[in-house]
Formats: sequence, C-alpha cells, structure tokens
Amino acid sequence: MATASSSSPQSTGATRGHVAAIVMAAGKGTRLKSGTAKVMHEAAGRSLLHHVMAALEPLGLGQVVVVVGHQSDVVAAHAAAGPISDVVTVVQNPQHGTGHAVEVGLSQVREGIDKVVVINGDAPLLTADMLTGLVDTPIGSAAILTALMDDPTGYGRVLRGDDDRVEAIVEHRDATPDQLTVNEVNAGMYAFDVEGLAERLAGVTGDNDQTERYVTTVVERLVVEGGEVRAIRVELEEVGVNDRAQLASTGSILRRRHLQNLMESGVTVLDPAATWIDVTVDVEPDATILPGCLLTGATHVASGAVIGPHSTLHDTEVGVDARVMQSWCDTAAIADEATVGPFAHLRPGTELGARGKIGAFAEVKKSTIGAGSKVPHLSYVGDATIGEDVNFACGAVTVNYDGVGKYETTIGDGAFIGCDTMLIAPVDIGAGAFVAAGSTITEDVPADALAIARARQAVKEGWAARRREAQSD
Ligand code: UD1
Ligand code: CA
Repeated sequence: MATASSSSPQSTGATRGHVAAIVMAAGKGTRLKSGTAKVMHEAAGRSLLHHVMAALEPLGLGQVVVVVGHQSDVVAAHAAAGPISDVVTVVQNPQHGTGHAVEVGLSQVREGIDKVVVINGDAPLLTADMLTGLVDTPIGSAAILTALMDDPTGYGRVLRGDDDRVEAIVEHRDATPDQLTVNEVNAGMYAFDVEGLAERLAGVTGDNDQTERYVTTVVERLVVEGGEVRAIRVELEEVGVNDRAQLASTGSILRRRHLQNLMESGVTVLDPAATWIDVTVDVEPDATILPGCLLTGATHVASGAVIGPHSTLHDTEVGVDARVMQSWCDTAAIADEATVGPFAHLRPGTELGARGKIGAFAEVKKSTIGAGSKVPHLSYVGDATIGEDVNFACGAVTVNYDGVGKYETTIGDGAFIGCDTMLIAPVDIGAGAFVAAGSTITEDVPADALAIARARQAVKEGWAARRREAQSD
C-alpha cells in the first residue's frame, strides 16, 4: 500500500540510531468534546497519532517512545498497531503538562541515545521532511520548529531577542498584549540533548495560568544557561489539532496533498475539489476518478479503472480497466474489466470476477461471482458462489435467510437463471442448467437440466370482454 507522502526525507548521510523521538499523546483533548482520546481522531482516514508516526517512520531513528495517558490502553494498542513496528509506550497518569510528559517519556529512552526529538502527538500535517533539520541538530545545541500564522490565536508565541535569537516561548493565555501580536508560533516540536535534560525538566514548575509543567520552559532555561536554541521555520497551515474545526481543516489539507501526489503520479482527477481520497488509499497511474467520489480505508484502484461519478469505495479492490458508476462498495473485490452500477450496493465479501457485471439496483453480499458472469439489474445475491459466464437475470434473488439462519446457494458455470427467479437456499444449480423465468426453486437442479417451477398458465378466451359487458349493465 502506498502512503501519503511521495517525497522521501533528505538524508544528511548521518545515521540517526543515536536519536530517539518522544511523542506526547497522553492528553484528553478537552476542546474536541469527545469520548474518544484526541490522538485517536482521524484526519483524511488516519488517526492523528498514526500521521505523526508515519512522518517519523522514514527517519530511521534509534527509538520511538509514545507517551499515553488518557484512555492509555486503547491509545497504547493503537500506537503499537501503527506505522512503526517496535514502538515503546509509557503511561503518564495523571497528566501534569507537556514538560511532565517528556519527563515520563525520557524514563524509557535507552542507553546510547544522546539526542531526543519531542513531538506533539496532535500534529498530523507534520512530514518527515519538516523533521529532518530537527533530527539532525548537532549535539550541543537545541532546536524548535516554528511557523508563521495569519491567526496565531491559542498557540505559544516564539519570543526573540534583539539579535533575533530565540529567548522563550510564551503560551497564549500567559502572554502580554504585546506578546500576543507575535505571529511566529511554537509548532510543538523540539530537539534536545539527553545530557542534562532530566535535571532541566525536574526544575520545570507549573507556574502558569494552567498550573501545568510546560516543556517550553526548558527552552527558556537553555537560553538562560547560555545555550543555543535554533528556530527551524516550516510551512504549516495548522500546527496542532485542538478542536473539530481544525480536525476538518487538517483533513482537507491532507486530502489535497494526497490528491496532488496522485495527480503527479499520473492519476486523472476530474475535479479535485469534489473528490475525497483518504491518505490510506492507493490509486495507480491512468486511473480516472470522476467527481463526487469518496475513497477510504485500504481501497486500491488499478490502472485504467474509472470510478464515479458519485461512488463510495471502502476497503475495496478495483482491477485494471474496471468501471464503477454511482455505487456503494464496502470491502469488495472487483476484478479487471468488470462493471459495477449505476446504483449497485456491494457489501462486505463481494468478489466480482473479470469482465463480470453487477448492474443497476443490485445488492450483493458475501458472494463470489465468477469471471464473465452478470447480475445486470434488480437482484439480491447473498451467501452465493456463482461460477463463470452465468446470467443471473433481472429480478432473480437468492433467498438466503429464513428469519433464523443464513443458507448458501451455488450456481455452476454457464447456468442461466431466468428473470424473477427465487432460489430458496440451500440450493445448488448445476453447470449449464437453465432455470425458467418466474420459478421458485426449492430443490437442486442437475447440470444441463431445465427447471421450471411456476403455475401453468390458463387462458380463458373472451373472459375480459364478458366481464366488461357485465359491469356496464
Ligand atoms: C502546545 C505548546 C504550544 C504550541 C502548541 C502547538 C506547551 C506548553 N505548549 O500547546 O506552545 O504552540 O502545542 O500545537 O507545550 N500532552 C501530554 N501530556 C500532558 C499534556 C499534553 O502527553 O500532560 C500531549 C497532548 O496529548 C498533545 C500534546 O501533548 O498531543 C500537546 O498538548 P496540548 O495540550 O494540545 O498543548 P497546546 O495547548 O496545544
Ligand atoms: Ca495542541
């Protein structure tokens, strides 16, 4: 599966085994007003925490420590399932602020690590490229990432001295009116030497409006000690996600970036503004995405396929030159040159073979439809295994549920299932068999047989005319 970032971070040639990352992910995220921990919330189909981990992954760091706290079990399991395999998690409970979080994280940093990069866990727009300067900060100096914001409201402001050097970071709520006019904000990413960090953190008190122990205080202490704190400025439209509006805006920025990467790689996107493709979705060159499509999860679209307009694909595989029109597909596999829709509903477990068709107003669930087979219109197919080159005509239905259990239907290669047929499962239709239209089939049909199961037609000559006459009397 391709990931969102197509660019690889520039390596300085230095190995980074001596650098650890401490990702701070213990906070509740009060401003999201959610029962779910902040870093578990998704933007463009990936959690905030996994976005940060995906940015760290290509850097080849010696260790990644994730500090969890609020809903620690869930968040720790989620961290372990992320893009970095050997992540270490540690619980910070209760949470006394970002300085305290770093202190807890530092306790897990192993022998031989001499540099740590500290990362806010709520920064999904961060990329590996933005982090390289931070990660490669030489021993003996510290660094912070900063960004210029049109509206810096809520963020920590970077205070610089007359010589332009960073002097301190002041939180919005602790800032003077003068300091509030500064539009360079702290992005919440830092590089520190391990040596002396524990002592400096131990000296951080909660002497501020939130009575929390801020990691930003370490920056100020380093400056007071005469140390160097470099400011590395990056382009970030949003620094951290604190509320639902920022969750939405970072989601759309991430999708826009992903669409840009896809188009650069050769995907046709008719109208990017009307197309939603999560960062987890992979689309091959020469595929076409028409307006109104929502592609999510582990969806993969192969070359030459045309999706849309107005189609939703989740965890769905689409083959070469396949066509999906105005349809809803969840956990389905659509093989090469197959056609779906318009107005089809593919539920989990649908497998459509090469050149197959699931057409208008057809619903398919947990069924395999073989190569060249067609379910062209107005059908329900559930718990069925359909062979190759089968015609499952208009209105035919697999009757798979009796209110208690679910039963299976099998249909052999080349069978013809006439219009409006009810196949009462469990039932087996042999290869090459022919089922007459309007049949209700309750027993197996052998290969190459004709099954006809409907009332014989009676024709009463003149009946209708006689009735009309009787009514007019
Ligand atoms: C922080 C910075 C601010 C910066 C902003 C950028 C501090 C004091 N302030 O503010 O200067 O502009 O990020 O987005 O650091 N966390 C813990 N344990 C805690 C507290 C927080 O793990 O005890 C985690 C949170 O889950 C979050 C991250 O640290 O992922 C940042 O915390 P948050 O409360 O969002 O800090 P901000 O107020 O946004
Ligand atoms: Ca934040």
